Amino acid sequence: MAKITYIQFDGSEHVQDVKPGLSVMEGAVKNNIPGIDADCGGACACATCHVYVDEAWVARAGEKSAMEESMLDFAENVEANSRLSCQIKVTEELDGLIERLPESQH
Ligand code: FES
Repeated sequence: MAKITYIQFDGSEHVQDVKPGLSVMEGAVKNNIPGIDADCGGACACATCHVYVDEAWVARAGEKSAMEESMLDFAENVEANSRLSCQIKVTEELDGLIERLPESQH
């Protein structure tokens, strides 16, 4: 399991054990953690699973694909550490990952 911390825009935190193989988005949605809408179900086609990866974890979260880069254009307030959480696969190496959620996904 990998322990992932999802920090809401208001600062409240949800710490969740997520099974490797799931995406960071699935770790939130399957456990009813609010703030990630994931309208397309993880197909990299909606940008409503936008998160900010904690700076210390950006490199370990992996590279964005070209498709993810272009979908991020549809998200608001995109920063250098923005990712689509459906495109981050959970591994044991991501144990401790911290994500911050945007104010809104729309
Ligand atoms: S869930 Fe739609 S892009 Fe991630």
